[in-house]
Amino acid sequence: MLVFAKIKSVQQKINSLNKGTKIGFVPTMGALHRGHLSLIEKAKIENNIVVVSIFVNPTQFDKEEDLINYPKTIDKDLSLLKSVGCNIVFVPTAKEIYADNIKSQQFDFDGLEHQMEGKFRKGHFDGVGTIVKRLFEIVTPDNSYFGEKDFQQLQIIKKMVQKNQIPVNIIGCDIFREEDGLAMSSRNSRLTYEQRKAAPFIYKTLKQAKIEFGIKNALEVTEWVKNEFEKHPLLELEYFEIANEETLQPIENKKTSQKYRAFIAVFAGKIRLIDNISL
Ligand code: PAJ
Repeated sequence: MLVFAKIKSVQQKINSLNKGTKIGFVPTMGALHRGHLSLIEKAKIENNIVVVSIFVNPTQFDKEEDLINYPKTIDKDLSLLKSVGCNIVFVPTAKEIYADNIKSQQFDFDGLEHQMEGKFRKGHFDGVGTIVKRLFEIVTPDNSYFGEKDFQQLQIIKKMVQKNQIPVNIIGCDIFREEDGLAMSSRNSRLTYEQRKAAPFIYKTLKQAKIEFGIKNALEVTEWVKNEFEKHPLLELEYFEIANEETLQPIENKKTSQKYRAFIAVFAGKIRLIDNISL
């Protein structure tokens, strides 16, 4: 496994590969867990070479505190990546990526960016778009893998690729969960023992909401979810929304021809957890 910190060196390596070598790419912010590894394993199967980037991208954090506290476990990350057969790791510094101008490009994602996470994390998706576009230019992947854990991000990346005609296939991957149902996340390691014990309530509520959606309308389901969280002593609901899977627009009238998904963001103390379920 080769590890590069410089854009020039990773590009040199990629340019030296035989023509036709299929490159699979998994961008991450490190603090890797089995959710990340599931993306890499899929990329391994579908490509000749797998490139993983580890970069805690400053421009996508709306809260300085969150950026500073983002877990960093580079040695463990590298040994995990080796264990799943990753070929190339790109670990740039912020200076390498942004030079002295740590700023986002502004994007128009046809409104996808104004929903849910976009409402609560100002500028977040401009930051994500900026870094992923830059990484695609550097790595020039054939296929790139994104988790449905961040479903809105996945749809936004698909939109960016389509609008900018970037020649890469974007592949969505299932949410990888702990045995108790909690969606794996780098942030889970920051939960206290009590918060960690409480957190599976999020997915349990999503699963029940899916059942309720079979017999109730979206408003009624949303009220039911709000009520469940109001009763919970450790978890605070930020939003619950049922939206069209493609446009991410909130549902108006349920139509059988459309695919819907329920999205949720919850605070356990200061830790923000997100999850979603196909309905
Ligand atoms: P990060 O949170 O490190 O996630 C990297 C990738 O792993 C994302 O595509 C995310 O959706 C996926 N992932 C995380 N947890 C998962 C889980 N439990 N199951 C399946 N996939 C999961 O997302 C980012 O980094 C950044 O925004 C990035 C795209 C790297 C841009 O900076």
